[in-house]
Amino acid sequence: MKIIEVKNYHALSMLAAKIIIDEVREKPNLVIGFATGKTPLKLYKNLVGAYRKGEVDFSGIKTFNLDEYYPIKQNEYKKSYRSYMSKRFFSDVNIPKENIHLLDGNSKDIAKSCKDYENQIRKNPIDLQILGIGINGHIGFNEPGSKKDSKTRVVKLSPSTIKRNKVSYTKALTMGISTIMKSKKIILLASGKSKAEVIERMIKGKESEKLPASFLKNHKDITVIVDKKAGSLI
Ligand code: GLP
Repeated sequence: MKIIEVKNYHALSMLAAKIIIDEVREKPNLVIGFATGKTPLKLYKNLVGAYRKGEVDFSGIKTFNLDEYYPIKQNEYKKSYRSYMSKRFFSDVNIPKENIHLLDGNSKDIAKSCKDYENQIRKNPIDLQILGIGINGHIGFNEPGSKKDSKTRVVKLSPSTIKRNKVSYTKALTMGISTIMKSKKIILLASGKSKAEVIERMIKGKESEKLPASFLKNHKDITVIVDKKAGSLI
């Protein structure tokens, strides 16, 4: 596990964007796993900025998003991750629509959708997975108690996640721990004081279902990028 500490959120977002841009330049058909939440907001801004300046071309990449609320409610569509990704990133760059994969929070056959998603990832292995981390140690929506061999599935959200994310959704879809672990390279981003304790537990503690992010310790190519505040206890 490689750990990089940068000064602040601005530097973290710059570095994460640079890593993605360099990888896309090196491999124009890169398969990228994207995350949502507050942490990658500036990263997406930077990627859009670089695209507008002609510094990167996304026309050959494929994307898979990590997670989504389920079932999507009409009145809360704006809080869906599909809406987030479209607004913050996809509508401003040149990724072909057919190359974008999102979990379907409207699916009528959710078991089949999850299986199909897992198969799509198997056929298009993720080269670079971007992750955030929940304060309870979740990655994607793999809440505490998630198994190491878990795959893409429906999960129950923990009360703390519902409160923190300010949603009324109680369930979600997420890539599993094993799905995430199959990614060739992982970049986990953490910013701010609220993430200091979970980063400490992930790095210093042992692997445990109680802290799903701890499974990442066994990944062979993971870089954790923290800013000073998130890294203050390590
Ligand atoms: C959310 C998402 C995750 C995200 C994490 C951290 O609930 N399901 O994909 O990485 O929690 O979110 P934030 O960056 O807003 O702290």
